Amino acid sequence: MKDQSPSVLDPAALVAAFPKVRTIALITDSNVDRLYGDVTVRRLEQTGLRVERIVFPAGERSKTLDTYVELVRGLAALGMTRTDLVVALGGGVVGDLAGFAAATYMRGIACVQVPTTLLAMVDSSIGGKTGVDIPEGKNLVGAFHLPRQIIRDVGYLATLPEREMKNGLAEMIKTAVLFDAAMFAELRALAARTPDERLAALAPLVERCAQWKERIVEEDFKEGGRRKLLNLGHTFGHAIEKVSGFAIPHGEAVAMGMRLVGNDVPEIDEILDAYGFGHYDVSVRAEVLSAVTNDKKRSGDSITLIIPRKIGDCELVETPMSEVGRWLPEDASGL
Ligand SMILES: NC(=O)c1ccc[n+]([C@@H]2O[C@H](COP(=O)([O-])OP(=O)(O)OC[C@H]3O[C@@H](n4cnc5c(N)ncnc54)[C@H](O)[C@@H]3O)[C@@H](O)[C@H]2O)c1
Repeated sequence: MKDQSPSVLDPAALVAAFPKVRTIALITDSNVDRLYGDVTVRRLEQTGLRVERIVFPAGERSKTLDTYVELVRGLAALGMTRTDLVVALGGGVVGDLAGFAAATYMRGIACVQVPTTLLAMVDSSIGGKTGVDIPEGKNLVGAFHLPRQIIRDVGYLATLPEREMKNGLAEMIKTAVLFDAAMFAELRALAARTPDERLAALAPLVERCAQWKERIVEEDFKEGGRRKLLNLGHTFGHAIEKVSGFAIPHGEAVAMGMRLVGNDVPEIDEILDAYGFGHYDVSVRAEVLSAVTNDKKRSGDSITLIIPRKIGDCELVETPMSEVGRWLPEDASGL
């Protein structure tokens, strides 16, 4: 069969970048494996190295300590050494899990991220946050472990369901609101196009968006300052997601969160309307408020909200818990 994988995974470049590697463990999920597993293994085998594949069931439900244990035990069973390589092929769930396994196996081995969802391309594969969920909360166990390389190819997005595309688009809109009015205008114009036309035009915007995140992470690796800006829309977004029992997808929830803090910037509502993002349901206001008060990013009696002043300019605002409610309208007319 002809190799139709969109991957720009270059076997020669990989060998040159990792001269000591003997075994490559390709970690992926069941969906991505079905679509791209075989072609990627064949491509990696062109390095002349031993290539082994570890697959787990797709979905956030797999992002657990149990799967993590399976992965690190899988690496051990393969006899992986400290100089071997993990390649994470997939969305954010694969990236977070494989990244955490790589971060901790033998106290850390190299990881290359090959993101296959829009969200992973512009967000989760960048910055070295890895980890798993526990029943007490999402991403509560993890480590910082920067990937040695990130290989981005929008060709993978041809098979990505529209709902997953929207998750990534919400993050791209977030980045534009934070830093880049010109990119915001381009994204705004793209909303009127068909999904196919949009896909064709997306590559340069994905690169630009990824570079913004790379720049911010470089400035502030451990999220002491500017990296916090990347949480725009996330404080309320996480709460909305949680209150819905995760029925509202992450991107939708972040979009709703951005609308709430973006009151003063009408362009935010306009672009989110154009892409068909919804509004938060005022009937769950009390639950959302209570979920925000339990946010893990809360410090003492206040919380840092990211408030847009205009497109490309947002501010970190330390907000007393007693004032958080004023960002949540009590009836639909306030939306
Ligand atoms: N580490 C970070 O900095 C960071 C940042 C944001 C989000 N995250 C995490 O990322 C995760 C969400 O990532 P996600 O939205 O990519 O979800 P995901 O990894 O679950 O992928 C979404 C779905 O798309 C499928 N898929 C992936 N690539 C595909 C392709 N090319 N074609 C068809 N189907 C494909 C997957 O199998 C899955 O079913 C969450 O766990 C979140 O906590 C991490």
